[in-house]
Amino acid sequence: MIFENTKAFAQQLDSRDSLNKYRNEFHFPKVNDKEVIYFTGNSLGLQPKRTKAYVDEIMNDWANLAVEGHFYAGKPWWDYQERFANPLSKIVGAKPSEVTVMNTLTVNLHLLMVSFYRPTKNRFKIICEKKAFPSDQYMFQSQVHFHGFKSEEAIVEVKRREGEHNIRTEDVLAKIKEVGDELALVLIGGVNYYTGQVFDMKTITAAGHEAGAYVGWDLAHAAGNVKLELHDWNVDFAAWCSYKYMNSGPGNASGCFVHEKHHTNPDLPRFAGWWGHNKERRFKMEPTFDPIQGADGWQISNLPVLSLAPYLASVEMFAEIGMDALIEKRDRITAYLEFILREIDKEVKGNFEIITPSNPSERACQLSVFLHGEGRSLFDYLMKNGVVIDWREPNVIRLAPVPLYCSFEDMYNFGQILKRGILGK
Ligand SMILES: Cc1ncc(COP(=O)(O)O)c(C=O)c1O
Repeated sequence: MIFENTKAFAQQLDSRDSLNKYRNEFHFPKVNDKEVIYFTGNSLGLQPKRTKAYVDEIMNDWANLAVEGHFYAGKPWWDYQERFANPLSKIVGAKPSEVTVMNTLTVNLHLLMVSFYRPTKNRFKIICEKKAFPSDQYMFQSQVHFHGFKSEEAIVEVKRREGEHNIRTEDVLAKIKEVGDELALVLIGGVNYYTGQVFDMKTITAAGHEAGAYVGWDLAHAAGNVKLELHDWNVDFAAWCSYKYMNSGPGNASGCFVHEKHHTNPDLPRFAGWWGHNKERRFKMEPTFDPIQGADGWQISNLPVLSLAPYLASVEMFAEIGMDALIEKRDRITAYLEFILREIDKEVKGNFEIITPSNPSERACQLSVFLHGEGRSLFDYLMKNGVVIDWREPNVIRLAPVPLYCSFEDMYNFGQILKRGILGK
């Protein structure tokens, strides 16, 4: 499609967009009495209007039923989480028994590493990406120390080549080959938080397995954003947060995937709790743990239903829309944003460097832009003028045109504000 940098063209794209109606389903913060252009759904998604009813339902059931709500609430609390299995499995390409919700992301990755990082004297190395999200880096360090290894011996980072912003798949594969028999685990962010690069999860998973290692993915920036086929890709485990693209609210619960091939493996250790115990027998208060045969068997505590309520609202919205429709719009709106950036760059004679891959199969809903010659004052200008973005040192802005609630007109308007922010100085 040939794009145009005009309001009329952007409005025409909106009028043809079948997801445009969902924009009204979200609360937008206002700046100068106008709804903002929201580019930080990769950090914290907007609040869907329908969420409040889900939370109110729990509050009312709690007020009216108290402990009886566990069994007699409209959506009984004791198995509330089971409502996630079908919609969530579709979002991540899994079987319903392979997904669960519990805890928060880093906690879940730690718990999954209890099962899938079982280093021995000879096979103890972890491959991850250079510049992984800091929480993952701390997690790797603490895990290898916990098992008695040194970080510099056990953690192998795949680097970007000199002068390149993204990691080449061939370099990940070469590193897997090189580490070979010493490789215990590959654990990478499916979408890099800084650059927005989408890794070739299928190919990397197969290569990790060929080397005899387990392969897991941190899907914080991928869940609800990227087409995932976790079951078919034979991924061992994965976890994601729900507060970014899945709009479930600040710091909210995480989702997990454990491939069905591991569900009945008695040799796989795990940290257990009563919520992972055989569901039919849970309240018999038996002394010996009998895990549920599925990802639910990794649950530990009874679930924070008040937190799950907004997540359920969101997951049901995704089920209504379907990932395919979302991805179709995501690609168009991201391409339009890229076009707008390039047009404005020409007009202001700037030097914007988009560090996210230009190949649509290696990116999703995020463009990270290196603003050569621009500083924090431009960021401040944008924020004051109703463009919510984030800033990463040294001078990168991350823009996520989330297809559920961003419009093509937003992209056009952003370009105009950006131009004024640069030329007006
Ligand atoms: C890629 C990635 N991994 C891990 C985390 C940590 O998430 P949490 O604080 O929910 O454990 C984040 C948070 O933004 C993230 O972006």
